[in-house]
Amino acid sequence: MWTILLTLAAITHIRPSDAKANCPLYGPLLPKPINLLQQPEIQAAAKALDAIFPKYIDNDKSTGSEHFSYSVEVFSASEDKPLWNHFWTAPNLASFNSTGVSKVDANTVYRLGSITKLYTVLTFLATVGDGIWNDPVTKYIPEFAAVAKQTHGGSMFVPDWDSITVGSLASQSSGLMRDYALLGEVTYQLKLSDLYAIGFPPISLYEIPPCGVNPTCTRKQLLSGISKLPPSFAPGTTPVYSDIGFTILSYIAEKITGKKFKSMVQDSVLTPLNLTHTFVSAPDDSLGIIPGNRYSTSWAFELAEEAATGNMYASAGDLSAFGRAVMRSSLLKPAMTRRWLKPSVFTSDPKGTIGMPWGIRQIDLSSSGASYQSVHAYNKLGSLGAYTSLLVIIPELDLGFSILAAGDPPPGLAMDIADTITSTYIPTIMTLARNQANATFSGVYKYTGNITVGGGGGGGNSSGTNATGPYPTNPPAAKTMNSTLTISVDASKPGLGVTNWISNGTDMAFISVAIGANITDDYFSKVKPSVRLYPTGAEEKTTGGGKRVAFKAVFEDLSLAEKKASFSSDCTSWVSVTAVVYGSKPLDMFIFDFDKDGKVTDVENAALRVKLDKVSSI
Ligand SMILES: *[C@@H]1O[C@H](CO)[C@@H](O)[C@H](O)[C@H]1NC(C)=O
Ligand SMILES: *[C@@H]1O[C@H](CO)[C@@H](O)[C@H](O)[C@H]1NC(C)=O
Ligand SMILES: *[C@@H]1O[C@H](CO)[C@@H](O)[C@H](O)[C@H]1NC(C)=O
Ligand SMILES: *[C@@H]1O[C@H](CO)[C@@H](O)[C@H](O)[C@H]1NC(C)=O
Ligand SMILES: *[C@@H]1O[C@H](CO)[C@@H](O)[C@H](O)[C@H]1NC(C)=O
Ligand SMILES: *[C@@H]1O[C@H](CO)[C@@H](O)[C@H](O)[C@H]1NC(C)=O
Ligand SMILES: *[C@@H]1O[C@H](CO)[C@@H](O)[C@H](O)[C@H]1NC(C)=O
Ligand SMILES: *[C@@H]1O[C@H](CO)[C@@H](O)[C@H](O)[C@H]1NC(C)=O
Ligand SMILES: *[C@@H]1O[C@H](CO)[C@@H](O)[C@H](O)[C@H]1NC(C)=O
Repeated sequence: MWTILLTLAAITHIRPSDAKANCPLYGPLLPKPINLLQQPEIQAAAKALDAIFPKYIDNDKSTGSEHFSYSVEVFSASEDKPLWNHFWTAPNLASFNSTGVSKVDANTVYRLGSITKLYTVLTFLATVGDGIWNDPVTKYIPEFAAVAKQTHGGSMFVPDWDSITVGSLASQSSGLMRDYALLGEVTYQLKLSDLYAIGFPPISLYEIPPCGVNPTCTRKQLLSGISKLPPSFAPGTTPVYSDIGFTILSYIAEKITGKKFKSMVQDSVLTPLNLTHTFVSAPDDSLGIIPGNRYSTSWAFELAEEAATGNMYASAGDLSAFGRAVMRSSLLKPAMTRRWLKPSVFTSDPKGTIGMPWGIRQIDLSSSGASYQSVHAYNKLGSLGAYTSLLVIIPELDLGFSILAAGDPPPGLAMDIADTITSTYIPTIMTLARNQANATFSGVYKYTGNITVGGGGGGGNSSGTNATGPYPTNPPAAKTMNSTLTISVDASKPGLGVTNWISNGTDMAFISVAIGANITDDYFSKVKPSVRLYPTGAEEKTTGGGKRVAFKAVFEDLSLAEKKASFSSDCTSWVSVTAVVYGSKPLDMFIFDFDKDGKVTDVENAALRVKLDKVSSI
């Protein structure tokens, strides 16, 4: 078996030391870097991959590259053009008299297989929303309600339809069987006489599904077949991959909207996103890569009623555009996208959880895995006939990639490519994030007395109104007030560091830790205060073309011991968010002011109600 022997930039080795590690809040550790295509680091990564893919895949016969074609794109939500792409056409494609393309490029269409499920869920969210996730499916599918009424005494052989929720279909936690009459039904793959010969008992013909691949099932046949399939588990027990769930999801959407599912996908997702190389049904052969016969490759196989689980087709360029649209929340309210991009259920692999229906990998940013710094890759794999596909998005980094292959690739090709891309781009993007944050925020901030003190952060409009509470809106200008702080970026620590934080002569870093933790006198000398800031995503425009951007501070005492037991943990920062509030203004809220040119002019701690001018960069 081959592997790509590359780690372009070794993932930063973070810590270890005796002190407890910083425990960041879940989410981006730094503001996302921008203008990626102009960055030499991104160009260098692309150049390195340009050399590596031909060397280790295309021109290495041991990979069997003669027999498969593929398209790969790396993209960012902040760029319309890909960060990198690469296409390989199998030399043996020429021997097939293919009705498809003769050379693969960014517009070449592949079958997506199960990546279709992402389009199905996005279509559902864009039309029906996520408000009905906890409704039972019987509310929308009367056929199941009828079966639910007939079940007596348990649900071992018939699903407990009243307990299966709409959301559980999307998150693979309905417990329903994988397929009805499609994959896995051996009476379709082998002759009955052969099955008897290898030990299966004779069965009556009425037990054999009347439909499947050829002919595909009608809606009536499907509902009648599905309604009585023995469930794998009771709903909500454990994730169980189920294609059926997505067919049912499409029926529910049809019932609610009164439209056919395929038109819903087209009208609510493909057309608004201008995905002109994405198709719900087979497009013209000339657009696709078809490594052989259009039927034997499954290019032309129409899943009919089960389209919502795997029928779609897309080019690498369009698959990337879809991934970008998800991260940009182009079709949904941002809050709905944030709900969508979360895990729903666990798997036995602690680094792997399941969303709707994302597979979610937690990727540590330290090679030792000893820190609490990680990103989360939301992915979906697809496979149908001669086609293999993978879409990955990493929302914390605005990064994603599309991998599409056709022909006879080695098993694990998509995952090996994914490993290579992540080990190249995650450290690159993290480095850029650090460099850009360093250039933007790092520096010394001081009370210079020439900024009018506002009513504190959060409201955005303090002009003409007085802040609530006893603090006056415009305190007498205290030109000599000894207030300062330093912002820095650290190669191994998460977020922006706040050091030398003095408020009117007082060491605020120490106070912020001590006041939150109620540390007693004898402990004072041991405290190692740490103040680090994380992006909140909250920002507002200011008059004059600038903006204010809010960060959340985590106050930690790094002198505390590492704790990793069943219950004891040294990483519970989320519980202590905004534990200290002064006159309704949080001590952990820091607001940076940007001018119209994107330069940071000052920072304000909401509770301290005073703007500190940026007086120097580091
Ligand atoms: C492709 O076409 C050529 C010329 O028409 C023919 O000789 C050959 O057998 C065909 N190959 C296949 C795989 O159909
Ligand atoms: C849609 O995409 C096509 C190319 O696929 C492009 O020519 C066209 O300008 C796009 N339309 C819009 C409205 O963006
Ligand atoms: C504030 O005042 C100091 C000293 O008077 C001056 O050097 C500085 O440029 C002023 N800062 C701003 C933002 O006006
Ligand atoms: C700010 O507050 C003043 C006084 O209440 C009001 O007149 C003004 O419209 C507000 N500005 C904005 C942008 O809300
Ligand atoms: C703010 O409060 C002060 C003191 O109570 C008062 O003199 C002033 O008029 C108030 N300003 C506004 C804009 O309400
Ligand atoms: C931040 O920028 C300063 C000045 O260019 C540099 O000395 C420092 O090494 C940078 N820090 C990081 C973590 O890159
Ligand atoms: C700064 O500290 C001095 C001395 O304790 C105090 O009188 C003054 O009110 C403080 N000013 C502010 C704005 O906190
Ligand atoms: C400001 O306060 C800090 C902490 O109390 C102190 O070390 C420093 O000397 C003070 N600076 C000035 C200029 O008063
Ligand atoms: C803080 O600690 C002191 C001394 O141990 C105790 O008397 C006080 O009640 C504590 N306060 C809080 C808010 O826990």
